[in-house]
Amino acid sequence: MINDIQLDPAAPLQQQLYRQLSQRIIGRRYLPGSQLPSSRQLAADLGVSRNTVNAVYDQLKAEGFLLSLAGKGVFINKDIRSTLNQPDQLPSHSQSTTAPLPPLPIVPKHSLRLGEDANLPFQPGLPDLDAFPIRSWNRILHHQESRRLLRGYDCIQGYQPLRRAITEYIRTSRGVRCEEHQVIVTNGAQQALSLIGDVLLQEGDRVFFENPGYRGARYALSRYGNPLLPVPLKGQVLDVGVLADMGPAKLLFCTPTHQYPMGGILDIAQRMALVEWAQRNQTWIIEDDYDSEFHFHNKPFAAIQGLFDKTPVLYVGSFSKTLLPGLRVGYLVVPEPMVEAFLWAKRISGGETPLLAQATIAEFIESGQFSRHLRRMRQLYRDKWLYFQKRVSEELTGLVTPVAESAGMHLVLKGNFDDVNLSQQLRALGFGSTPLSAHFIGDTQQTGLVMGFASASEREIEAGVSALKSLLQSD
Ligand SMILES: Cc1ncc(COP(=O)(O)O)c(C=O)c1O
Repeated sequence: MINDIQLDPAAPLQQQLYRQLSQRIIGRRYLPGSQLPSSRQLAADLGVSRNTVNAVYDQLKAEGFLLSLAGKGVFINKDIRSTLNQPDQLPSHSQSTTAPLPPLPIVPKHSLRLGEDANLPFQPGLPDLDAFPIRSWNRILHHQESRRLLRGYDCIQGYQPLRRAITEYIRTSRGVRCEEHQVIVTNGAQQALSLIGDVLLQEGDRVFFENPGYRGARYALSRYGNPLLPVPLKGQVLDVGVLADMGPAKLLFCTPTHQYPMGGILDIAQRMALVEWAQRNQTWIIEDDYDSEFHFHNKPFAAIQGLFDKTPVLYVGSFSKTLLPGLRVGYLVVPEPMVEAFLWAKRISGGETPLLAQATIAEFIESGQFSRHLRRMRQLYRDKWLYFQKRVSEELTGLVTPVAESAGMHLVLKGNFDDVNLSQQLRALGFGSTPLSAHFIGDTQQTGLVMGFASASEREIEAGVSALKSLLQSD
């Protein structure tokens, strides 16, 4: 009966024989009730040992595919018929193995670039991975990794010493007003943004969004189909003046201390006006404080969360720029009465943040190495920022217009070109960037390239600028 099985002698025989027999039974190529050859016979036919066939038969019997009838032999279990389709409704063999899947999810148009190298020089948001103090980090990591406490479960809200260290850091360095119990450690800022959507958004709730703006936040806050209303920029910052005429909103997303991607900084009068509008309008402000450590001339501007005693602000931060994106650790600060709701949402959507990473960051901060690292990176990124601007003005004047604020890890180069195509061409040459047009909701209003200089060495800055020049001139 069995003449359609072929085994590859180079691969595990038992596994192959098991898979082929079970697939033929499921596909009804071998029908319920029919007899299989004895193990001796099948072993001889296939040129394998009898032990191999016996082991496979035993496994198939244990799973209910086969039955041994004393004195008669091995049969395909008749009862399988009731769980498989009846013959008259039966798809053919080929159909049953290629039967259509249930409806597949709709993938958003600008979904992730699967398989693309996300760590190319000029990739926006990427810190200098080589400048990271990996030896000191590893010493702390080794110290933490032997601790038994970190091998089990801890708490959804985050490892307590890390929450304490974050609280101290954002209070002193970012002016955030909070207590430790308001801080929730998240899996990157991205999880914080998506938890805000989970906890606060109900059907039809309107979300105001600075335009252009950060796509990660846009995707998180629009994923339940809530209307996303663009708020234009004025002088590279959110135009606070237009909000009064825009009506109600549940949430407003913004990057007030360094607008992403255009780089502007809301001054104190605008920040106060924004908070007052939110209080009047009963809107929660999401303050994404993603890279405000890196201001090159002034001290970083304080977060709007800390402007007044009780601001309607959900404060989001991340270690992706200040340490490494690969750690996937961020944080969220919410008013005390909301903490429980966020913890419930976090419990459901993934639970705890990896403890070893949390404990290592906590010790890195407590030992003073975090502030040392930030000081060094501020200097390093300032030098790269100056060098990148110098190269741009020497090589690309007339081809692009840089939008330069004295902050951050990226520069926008505006220009009248097909930015999606140009970004792809640069990528093919080994340089990251994102098209400015992709940061707009609705119609593209401006084209250009968002280029992260923090991840590029001087030599890469030179090569990247020359590559861009050739591409722009060949257009
Ligand atoms: C505006 C903005 N917010 C937040 C983040 C950080 O996200 P995460 O902590 O999920 O890496 C980024 C990263 O590029 C960003 O550009």
